[in-house]
Amino acid sequence: METQIRKLDYAAIDMDIIEKAGRILKEGGLVAFPTETVYGLGGNALNPASSEKIYAAKGRPSDNPLIVHISEKDDVYQIAEQVSERAKQLMEAFWPGPLTLIFSKKALVPDKTTGGLSTVAVRMPSDKIARALIRASGGFVAAPSANASGRPSTTTAAHVAEDLSGRIEMILDGGQAVIGLESTIVDVSEEQPVILRPGVITRAMMESVIGPVEIDRAVIAPDSHVKPKAPGMKYRHYAPKASLTIVEGETKDVIEAVNRLSAEAAAEGKRVGIMATDETAGCYGMGLVRSLGARSREEEISMHLFEVLRSFDETDVDCIYSESFGDAAIGQAIMNRLLKAAGHRVIEV
Ligand code: TXA
Ligand code: MG
Repeated sequence: METQIRKLDYAAIDMDIIEKAGRILKEGGLVAFPTETVYGLGGNALNPASSEKIYAAKGRPSDNPLIVHISEKDDVYQIAEQVSERAKQLMEAFWPGPLTLIFSKKALVPDKTTGGLSTVAVRMPSDKIARALIRASGGFVAAPSANASGRPSTTTAAHVAEDLSGRIEMILDGGQAVIGLESTIVDVSEEQPVILRPGVITRAMMESVIGPVEIDRAVIAPDSHVKPKAPGMKYRHYAPKASLTIVEGETKDVIEAVNRLSAEAAAEGKRVGIMATDETAGCYGMGLVRSLGARSREEEISMHLFEVLRSFDETDVDCIYSESFGDAAIGQAIMNRLLKAAGHRVIEV
């Protein structure tokens, strides 16, 4: 199939294109679209055949449930069996936005969409193109990140095309996704809210609204044998083709270690990539150095992380060394993705 790519302007969204994309979704086809976090690969969430197509297009295991995207807060009541007081407070505070909530599901949501689970993940994005598309499609859009399974999530339409061209009907191009990391996921289906995936809506932000929020142990100790509650968190993810190693420690020690490791790798005939920051990029004597942005502005790092990981796949580097980031605020979400991409290879210096 030929994938149509349509550019949209946020200042004047072309509703003819949105209507056309909405029709594709209604008829069971797939449309990739921008959200504030990453691009999503959308299908009709209430149509099991659409969910099957999503799994096939991504090459994703079908036990890995999809997030249902809505455009109006109240639509959650059509698909969630029970919405607790705390869930309502979180929706009030953070919807629309990069927060996904897990509820017990109503029968209207097909098992194919939830990977056989009795719960459903729901998110109301803030992105205007996303919300217009959801509205035009009938209200319930299942959308995982729009990447081939295992590759870094996509933050531009070009990245989506790289992975999914020829497999889906349409890509809506809204430019670069501003957050760059997927939404925070919180399970509110039971009494105690639990974070299943960290994101830019942090634990502290949510605790200031609803009191204590737990973190799934699999997020904190990702290398242990703890089974994560979000099925997708158990899969190898985001990995670049070259082997990626994170170097952790005081900045000056990290620079020294990366320079030494790079020299050793080069001596073995390997080509080296380095993931640095604006503050440190000039300190590396060799290798292909790419900056993620200013270390002092974590939102720059999150915005560029997947893009930089992907960019190394277009080079011939054999190994990549990355600096690490703190685990406060957004840093925890950044490190969660980076550790997965590195298959948890970390050198402490
Ligand atoms: O920001 C985002 O959340 C993006 C954009 C497109 O909205 N979407 C996204 O979807 O990241 P995906 O499929 O790549 O990641 C969804 C994660 C997976 O780890 C999946 O296992 C988990 O959410 N998940 C979905 N439904 C769940 C459920 N009912 N219970 C537990 N985890 C669930
Ligand atoms: Mg994903």
